[in-house]
Amino acid sequence: MPNTNFHHDVLIIGGGAAGMSLALNLAKNHNVALIMKDVSKETSTNYAQGGISAVLEDTDNFASHISDTLIAGAGICDEASVRYVVENAPEIVNWLADMGMPFTRESHEDGLGEYHLTKEGGHSHRRVIHADDATGKALQSTLSQAVKQHPNIHIANDRIAIDLITAKKLGIDDNRIYGAYILNLSSNEVETWHADVVTLATGGANKVYLYSSNPDGSTGDGIAMAWRAGCRIANMEFMQFHPTCLYHPEAKSYLITEALRGEGAFLKLPNGERFMLDIDDRAELAPRDIVARAIDDKMKRLGIDNVLLDISHRPESFIKQHFPNIDATLNKYGIDMSTGSIPVVPASHYTCGGVMTNEFGQTDIHNLYAIGETAYTGLHGANRLASNSLLECMVYAKGAAEHIEEQLKVKEAIPSLPTWDASRVTDSDEEVVVAHNWHELRQTMWNYVGIVRTNKRLQRAANRIELLQYEIDEYYGNFKVTNDLIELRNLCVVSHLIVESALQRKESRGLHYTLDYPDLDENYAKPTILQPKNSPLN
Ligand code: FAD
Ligand code: SIN
Repeated sequence: MPNTNFHHDVLIIGGGAAGMSLALNLAKNHNVALIMKDVSKETSTNYAQGGISAVLEDTDNFASHISDTLIAGAGICDEASVRYVVENAPEIVNWLADMGMPFTRESHEDGLGEYHLTKEGGHSHRRVIHADDATGKALQSTLSQAVKQHPNIHIANDRIAIDLITAKKLGIDDNRIYGAYILNLSSNEVETWHADVVTLATGGANKVYLYSSNPDGSTGDGIAMAWRAGCRIANMEFMQFHPTCLYHPEAKSYLITEALRGEGAFLKLPNGERFMLDIDDRAELAPRDIVARAIDDKMKRLGIDNVLLDISHRPESFIKQHFPNIDATLNKYGIDMSTGSIPVVPASHYTCGGVMTNEFGQTDIHNLYAIGETAYTGLHGANRLASNSLLECMVYAKGAAEHIEEQLKVKEAIPSLPTWDASRVTDSDEEVVVAHNWHELRQTMWNYVGIVRTNKRLQRAANRIELLQYEIDEYYGNFKVTNDLIELRNLCVVSHLIVESALQRKESRGLHYTLDYPDLDENYAKPTILQPKNSPLN
């Protein structure tokens, strides 16, 4: 019989920038379990292109980075969180550089020049440090090498967390976490993982939409698990759409980094006309919500399938030196960006809301933390500033680690946990139902809860989601859990949270734009907070 019971000081669910950074910060003094789906590269972290924003030059300053973040966030960022992240950014960059992160330098020849900083939408300075145009790949590899070498970190690949085990769930009158039930995807056994502290670092929920820049595992599992366990969830109406994903029949949601626009690329209509100049003074470098909405509007008005991104006016050598990976990928699809333009469309990219946390990453449940894209820290408000996300993952991982160290000084006993009960379920006889429901849900969200919303569309989505929820719950109650079923169940919960939050915000702000309330309303200048029925605060 394989072992299905595991005990650790800290269980971290998620092996992206957030989870791995936390593991590295804690492993000196504690044994840490790092659980992830599939192979470790299936993270949004691995796909990041542009870079990490940080004030690194004398001509730049914290006040400017703070102000740019607040402006992008459209009036509802938590200023304390913004200040905390911005002021900790240079230290995080040094931490990564010390670990060997290959940040691009000004001089490629000797690799010793100053860091090369690029610019992205909404930033008033060049402050995005990067590793060519594949920063995430370099980051994932730097962190995972360090994680793999650490004897106190137990990496468990090929596993998907199903649900959290809380005192409340076991009928114990306490508000604390004990661990999680986790499906081992190789053995198909559900394992019981006990831990004094559990951290959700499961990334975003962008696969809720039909078209997304994210890897397949971005199904909002941490947000859904936290909601079911009783945690408050905030700002889920603010789903960010990246303006420029490659539009090509064979390309599966390939992002074209905003740094291209930072280095001078123009957005054009099929007739070659630039259109952002008439929409915003910052033109192509306006914050993402504005650019994505402008593209969506042009596509709908003109009935076109895509717009064009054009950097061909810059020298070929510059393009190839700065964007080698994008260049190689485009070549595979027969596109040469040094001579022609790139067909692009917006796609769902980033989850600004998430599990409500305080400055230490603590959630509403004692010893349950959430960090990275799965968390709501208040940093992004109604729209995230480009390249602030990887930074947030690592800053909050450091802060959470310091707090967890304190918590672990006094350990409370964990009762023996019941094993997963699979006695009333059988193997599914209709796997195809799961695939159909996945598609229907993601199509519904794309059609009715996208870049432009209305009450009618949101209500229509709410009705369909309710029906799907019913079907999925029934299926979940009768059949053995599988990876796809777990993800579908979570996507449905997250869709409900997005639609419910969107219905509550009767104004347009940042990423939430509705034709029924097209203006800002200062009565709504606050986060949307959803509190579940089983919240410990009730
Ligand atoms: P992820 O990196 O997504 O990792 C999530 C982890 O959780 C994975 O290991 C996954 O397997 C695991 N997981 C999920 N659910 C479960 C479960 N139920 N059980 C077990 N494990 C689970 N941000 C920037 O700041 N700069 C950029 O240049 C940038 N570019 C981007 C480009 C693209 C194409 C994308 C998609 C995003 C980009 N972002 C960028 C956003 C940024 O990459 C993400 O917000 C960030 O990487 C999230 O890190 P994370 O650790 O929170 O989650
Ligand atoms: C990009 O490179 O355009 C993505 C940056 C981000 O999402 O922060």
